[in-house]
Amino acid sequence: MLEDKRLLLIIGGGIAAYKSLDLIRRLKERGASVRVVMTSAAQHFITPLAAGALSHDRVFTELFDREAEQDIGHIRLSREADLLIVAPATADLMAKMAHGLADDLASAVLLANTRPVLLAPAMNPAMWANVATRRNAAQLAADGVRFVGPNAGAMAERGEDGAGRMAEPLEIVATVEAMLAAGGPLSGRHVLVTSGPTHEPIDPVRYIANRSSGKQGHAIAAAAARAGARVTLVSGPVNLPAPPGVTLRPVESARDMLAAVETALPADVAIFAAAVADWRAASEAPEKMKKDGGALPPLALTENPDILATIAHRTSGRPRLVIGFAAETQNVVAYAQAKRARKGCDWIVANDVSAHSGIPGGVMGGDTNEVHLITAEGSEAWPRASKAEVAARLIARIAAALGERESES
Ligand code: C5P
Repeated sequence: MLEDKRLLLIIGGGIAAYKSLDLIRRLKERGASVRVVMTSAAQHFITPLAAGALSHDRVFTELFDREAEQDIGHIRLSREADLLIVAPATADLMAKMAHGLADDLASAVLLANTRPVLLAPAMNPAMWANVATRRNAAQLAADGVRFVGPNAGAMAERGEDGAGRMAEPLEIVATVEAMLAAGGPLSGRHVLVTSGPTHEPIDPVRYIANRSSGKQGHAIAAAAARAGARVTLVSGPVNLPAPPGVTLRPVESARDMLAAVETALPADVAIFAAAVADWRAASEAPEKMKKDGGALPPLALTENPDILATIAHRTSGRPRLVIGFAAETQNVVAYAQAKRARKGCDWIVANDVSAHSGIPGGVMGGDTNEVHLITAEGSEAWPRASKAEVAARLIARIAAALGERESES
């Protein structure tokens, strides 16, 4: 629900602008007030009249508008909003934002802005894939701008296909709701989550992996976003969409994952739910390995960095709460307690992944989980529940622990 929220929607020039009209309607339905800025390019696709009729307000289009500068102006337009949405965010608007240009009302509002910004990019797939746009998107993400989409699919241009479609209005609304979950127990916190398996290359076509689905890690990231946190989700290859309002950093190997985690720091809380491969091939063959009918090629392995232990043992910039997972097949609690000490983390969420754990479909890839929470104070057995419920309970515990630590210090 967006009751009493003040949103500023900046509409860029692209065919997806027609979906922004529906977006205004969806946001209004949820109780938000919506002010609209349109670029001159946007007005080739939809009219200020249509946007104004839906937003029940005048639409702002000019930087040097005597009337508007006197009563409101570009500074107030952003200052009076709780959040800015740029939809569609064109390649041109993103480039201007990344470089701090301000030669029209939309870009001047964005440069003067201090509020959270959500971009819903929409452009031709070749423009989205262009190195300049990649660079600008990376810069904007590093600047704290959030993205929803673009999605893959058929484009307006006939025969064109690929990533570049603007996210659907309801997806954008869900992301706005997650971003504005302020007052949530984790608002103002940065939560870092790892999820999924890692893929360790053997040669250009083969890799070592495991059965992790990423469901538990993604559910934790979603629950943290709903609790109002800024969330970075570093995920190995999975078949799951990024939860709304979460910044996704996709990675392949354990070494990529460690690098992405280190880049994402500082964080208040780090939750390591990924099933990181313990080993990788000692060397990656540059060409596909051939079977030549002779002896099998030896596969020498080497150990991967332990991401959890590396971060938990940091002497500076360590997150206040570092949480690991333990998948065990026997003596779950005893092994998890030993692991907590060895890895140097604060808590361990331990589960029994053995075939006899009694969870239909097993834990890995399944939708339920039965865990023990191991802390410095001891261990608690949590009842079997969906991965979403386990995530919500864990997030509630994290919020309580951060609150307690703050009141002690
Ligand atoms: O040692 P083990 O793999 O059982 O530890 C599991 C925990 O450690 C999980 O939280 C997992 O995400 C983390 N881990 C890691 N890097 C590794 C191996 C495990 O972060 N290389």
